[in-house]
Amino acid sequence: MKPSPRIPRSLQLYKRALELIPGGTQLISRRPTRYANGVSPIYAARAQGARFWDIDGNEYIDWVSGIGAIILGYCDPVVDDAVRRQIATGTMYSINHELEIELAEELCRTIPCAEMVRYAKCGGEACAIAVRIARGFTGRDKVLFCGYHGWQDWYLAANLAAEANLNAHLFPGIEPIGVPRTLAGTALPFPYGDLGVLGELLDRHKGEVAAVIMEPLRSEIPKAGYLEGVKKLAAAHGTVLIFDEVTSGFRLAVGGVQEYLGVTPDMAVFAKAISNGYPMAAVVGKRAVMEPAGRMFISSTYWSDTLGLRAALTTIQELRKRGVPAQLQRVGSELTRRLNAVAGEVGLKVTCGGLSVLPALQFATDDAALKSKLTTLYIQEMAKRGCHGYASFYLNAAQGEAEIEQTVAAAREVFALIARAWSSGQVEQMLECDPQQDAFRRMVR
Ligand SMILES: Cc1ncc(COP(=O)(O)O)c(C=O)c1O
Repeated sequence: MKPSPRIPRSLQLYKRALELIPGGTQLISRRPTRYANGVSPIYAARAQGARFWDIDGNEYIDWVSGIGAIILGYCDPVVDDAVRRQIATGTMYSINHELEIELAEELCRTIPCAEMVRYAKCGGEACAIAVRIARGFTGRDKVLFCGYHGWQDWYLAANLAAEANLNAHLFPGIEPIGVPRTLAGTALPFPYGDLGVLGELLDRHKGEVAAVIMEPLRSEIPKAGYLEGVKKLAAAHGTVLIFDEVTSGFRLAVGGVQEYLGVTPDMAVFAKAISNGYPMAAVVGKRAVMEPAGRMFISSTYWSDTLGLRAALTTIQELRKRGVPAQLQRVGSELTRRLNAVAGEVGLKVTCGGLSVLPALQFATDDAALKSKLTTLYIQEMAKRGCHGYASFYLNAAQGEAEIEQTVAAAREVFALIARAWSSGQVEQMLECDPQQDAFRRMVR
């Protein structure tokens, strides 16, 4: 397969990166193998609003929104002005800054479970802090989890006991290389939506489970009563319930899924969209659980950085002022409706569904290899038409009618092309790259 000539500088840079940076990128989701490798852009030069320009000068609508970190749009003038003013007065100091308290007050007004707050710089780090606090609070070691929670030892320990433990929780095939074997059995997965299994696990490990940590939702609204049931089980076992809202937070409601669905956990973790692209994360929770953290050693220089604090405070205020969750729902519903209409028009067996604020395409086949090829062909052909993304859509508030129009027009051509390739058995021949890889399945170049 010949790499496309549209991204020569990106390809050159990635070659240099592989010589210097183990794994090539800092985040698995930024690896070229997650997209149409050789066709999709790898290096960005600049971004503005709903779009970015790659190092080769190609323009794209960005349907990945900084892997979910950009919620207002790139270079949001209000957030960036606030950050620039902050830079002019110093970004961090030897002593503390009032912003720590102002943001904590804002989070406590906004997030139902928030009575006290700690900060961090990224989602995985914030999850590790939340788990540490829950372990310290309960004096117990074990953690039950559901979903993706970062790269740290406490979480990857799940794959020491059984290699497949993390498979259903977003990334299959993670090898826990470098994770101490003594942690085996300390992190146990539970399947989403099944209260029976969670109850059995809590019974089997009675008195040993510090925390139940979960993404409260990922791609669907849970069945009525499910999260309430989880909360009841956790409470009955004296276990801290933590909602990981790193991806779900701020999209359905400014107060997160917990506000939207009316289920308040003991603690919650936010990052990504909290600060529209500036490094920032928060661990929030009930006073009874959070207060003992004052005696735990949880401490880092950059957690007081005022740029993240200022960006988060301004972003949360702007989300509320502009009614962003409702806007994301409108854009997502419209995109979903029109992509489904186009699929019907051209006769492609694909459905756009999932949450309106995180829509995703599903090709109607049980053949996993074919599905991966169809998805890659979609990513490849959309990239050629100036639409960067996976087969799913991270929305931001800068996306509007123009982006929907352009994307639907591109999808009309791409869906027709895929339908023809699928019906004539030519999907593989149409690929200008290897099929998109499941992250972690093969940690190779
Ligand atoms: C639910 C959830 N938790 C934790 C993380 C890790 O966050 P970060 O990559 O900022 O460390 C992610 C990242 O995608 C996530 O989606």
